[in-house]
Amino acid sequence: MNVHGKHYRTIWLKEDDPRVVQIIDQRWLPHKFVVEDLTDVDQVARAIQEMHVRGAGLIGATAGYGMYLAALHAPKDSLAAFMEALAAAGEQLKATRPTAVNLAWAVERQLAAMEAAGDDIEERIQTAFQVAQDIADEDAEACRRIGEHGVQIIQEISQRKGGEPVNILTHCNAGWLAFVDYGSATAPIYEAHSRGIPVHVWVDETRPRNQGARLTAWELGQHGVPHTVIADNVGGHLMQHGLVDLVITGTDRTTYTGDVANKIGTYLKALAAHDNGIPFYVALPSSSFDWTIQDGLAEIPIEERGEEEVKYIQGLHNGEIVKVLLTPQESPATNYSFDVTPRRYVTGLITERGICPASEEGVLGLFPEKRQS
Ligand code: MRU
Repeated sequence: MNVHGKHYRTIWLKEDDPRVVQIIDQRWLPHKFVVEDLTDVDQVARAIQEMHVRGAGLIGATAGYGMYLAALHAPKDSLAAFMEALAAAGEQLKATRPTAVNLAWAVERQLAAMEAAGDDIEERIQTAFQVAQDIADEDAEACRRIGEHGVQIIQEISQRKGGEPVNILTHCNAGWLAFVDYGSATAPIYEAHSRGIPVHVWVDETRPRNQGARLTAWELGQHGVPHTVIADNVGGHLMQHGLVDLVITGTDRTTYTGDVANKIGTYLKALAAHDNGIPFYVALPSSSFDWTIQDGLAEIPIEERGEEEVKYIQGLHNGEIVKVLLTPQESPATNYSFDVTPRRYVTGLITERGICPASEEGVLGLFPEKRQS
């Protein structure tokens, strides 16, 4: 997608040095556009844990490149030592963030591909390189297709409204910045915009890290998509007054039965949408499905982050990015990062293969190869 009119992905290999992975360090957006070099798995793990990169698809792609860097630097004296170092790198990466399932998926995919690549270490390094590139390319392509499927929902509403702008509410950032390109929740929006269908996006600020206010607003702005940032508690009021036609969010992990883990506060938006008869869709590439668990509420691990994210807020002051204290210094704070929206509140899932009901039958209908025999 575009930044100041130039096309970027969120992660790529340095043009003149394929041993260096480059990312956009999202901690400084929207105020500063910083590209960071990552050269080893420790730096990659830190970038994921400290949220230089974030969002399900991008966490997966970054982990894929992290495994490639780990392969470059692993001991080469024996295959066993090489694979031991890669297994350790995989564990290190998987421990960085617990909720987004793309992380473990990418690590396991790299390890399986290397096991299958024959006994030559150089061949395994080449495999790790190719798999990292494939994960990134497939993520971008899946999101592009999510846009093509999801735009139909927006088009129908637009026709019903006689061409009046379709008001779409989204939570957090399931945009281009959360993936390699296009985004999941934003892909149908970008597609509608490029087809000339008038849209307007209500952007939930998404406390405590404000991914909506900082990231979604910025990327929509870069593409000229009309949007308005709202405080997290405003959505229900807008829905009651007919100002929201559709909700689309992303997800960090969705069970094959249709339960959706996403940024904290998503559940409340789903409840409000349900109460007001507003369609609530979740957009995801298949890498964000967890094919092993049935009950999202009981089984999806919910990340708890540090209390400083709740107690302090970051912004621009006199040209400098600063953090200021928001709460009484001594007040404790708690910081659950995700919640689970039960499938009964989800109108449908928008995937790269099409749109399906949020149910086991719906999901397995689109992905029949995942049926247990
Ligand atoms: O904590 P983050 O920023 O990594 O959270 C992930 C998200 O951006 C959202 O939950 C998003 O809606 C789903 S990830 C595509």
